[in-house]
Amino acid sequence: LSGDQVIVVSNREPYIHERSDDGVVVRRPASGLVTAVEPVMRACSGTWIAHGSGSGDREVVDAHDRVAVPPGHDDYYLRRIWLSAEEERGYYFGFANEGLWPLCHVAHVRPVFRESDWEAYKAVNQRFADAVVAEARSEDPVVLVQDYHFALLPAMVREKLPQATILTFWHIPWPNPESFGICPWRRELLQGLLGSTILGFHTRFHCRNFMETVDRYLEARIEQEHSTISFQDKETLVESYPISIEWPTPATVAGWGPVVDCRQRVFARLGLAEDTCLAVGVDRFDYTKGILERLNAVERLLEKHPEWVGRFVFVQVAAPTRSSLEEYRSFQDRIERLSARINERFGRPGYQPVHLLAQHHEPEQVNELFRAANICVVTSLHDGMNLVSKEFVAARDDEQGVLLLSRFAGAARELTEALIVNPYHVEETADALYQAATMPSAEQRERMASLRSTVHEFNVYRWAGHMLSDAARWRLRARVEA
Ligand code: G6P
Repeated sequence: LSGDQVIVVSNREPYIHERSDDGVVVRRPASGLVTAVEPVMRACSGTWIAHGSGSGDREVVDAHDRVAVPPGHDDYYLRRIWLSAEEERGYYFGFANEGLWPLCHVAHVRPVFRESDWEAYKAVNQRFADAVVAEARSEDPVVLVQDYHFALLPAMVREKLPQATILTFWHIPWPNPESFGICPWRRELLQGLLGSTILGFHTRFHCRNFMETVDRYLEARIEQEHSTISFQDKETLVESYPISIEWPTPATVAGWGPVVDCRQRVFARLGLAEDTCLAVGVDRFDYTKGILERLNAVERLLEKHPEWVGRFVFVQVAAPTRSSLEEYRSFQDRIERLSARINERFGRPGYQPVHLLAQHHEPEQVNELFRAANICVVTSLHDGMNLVSKEFVAARDDEQGVLLLSRFAGAARELTEALIVNPYHVEETADALYQAATMPSAEQRERMASLRSTVHEFNVYRWAGHMLSDAARWRLRARVEA
């Protein structure tokens, strides 16, 4: 694809400019999508179209609403789309996050489908599609569409740019046809997605669910063998591309400093005793992440193994997210109450078993915490991939530390040397915490070394390379057939 123009579309922007007392500062959002796509975009250059969401975003763009990023490197352009409060309410908070998010994550939160949200979702998809068309310098750009915010956009772009190569990646799970079928606009969403040249999911399982959903609700021809869907004379390849992270370079790792130093800094900051076993969780404050379930497991561990009371500390970093939604606010309240209850029950002067850090943390701070920890806990109830698990592994060049991972995260299919748990089973999760806390260093090393070689090899460039080389083959075929 060298020489072809690459345009990324996502809702979340990779760099957020915020006004502060020190002028405008740049912040990196907590988003698995951004973590994965940003390094790829730095390598490809091109244009990334996203919602301008920061308070200082307007102050740094040019007359075309563009700003070159990353700051100081200017590898590619970020083109910002401004959404009115009403558009954001209907399209982002409403249809995307009260409708599609719970619809696709089977996490027992009932999706809400409002007519007005659907209207806003359609309108905003059209606005982003128009921006793609405006940015296109040729009839056949390569457009990388990201996530559930833009299910309708592929067909909208296809209508204006029939020759474009549209690669859509769905970063969240795809449910079975019965679950998806409760959405009143299921046909429109499927038709929109089938405007893509390639539609990617993290796992084969999600691909199969998608193909079965199309089979149930549209008149389309499905070729299981080639994993393609033909609909209204267009063909879409449905393929799995497990997403990943950028593997840190030796220079990056050298910049982190020794693990002992990281541990010392974190322990000093949190006031932890030297012999503490530190377990960490790092998530957005989202009900799909299983934070409640992991706190229950921590409590059960302390109950079953009183010898750990005083020595086992669990730190949860929880970045506030989508806080205008009641479901998210009440979730945060429940977690705060449960943490306080555990601390009341097991805490004593100088010992607080649960530390809840409900603020945004920059990637460097998270990395330091990973390096300081004995255990990283990922207990998602349902998760497309989960990149926190891979980031923890990448942070541990000392080959120590234990990853505890939910079997309901896509990552569990690759990271098989983690301690795999069913987070709904409190007893099992508590036992896995105990196993992690008491795991001999040699076993940690063996597991971690193997996890590291997997993540190193299947890094994000593999993900992008696999998708882009499939796209290049399709482009070639289309040119030959034309
Ligand atoms: C998930 C979604 C992303 C999203 C991220 C953060 O990873 O798949 O599309 O960016 O959550 O959520 P937010 O709503 O803050 O962008």
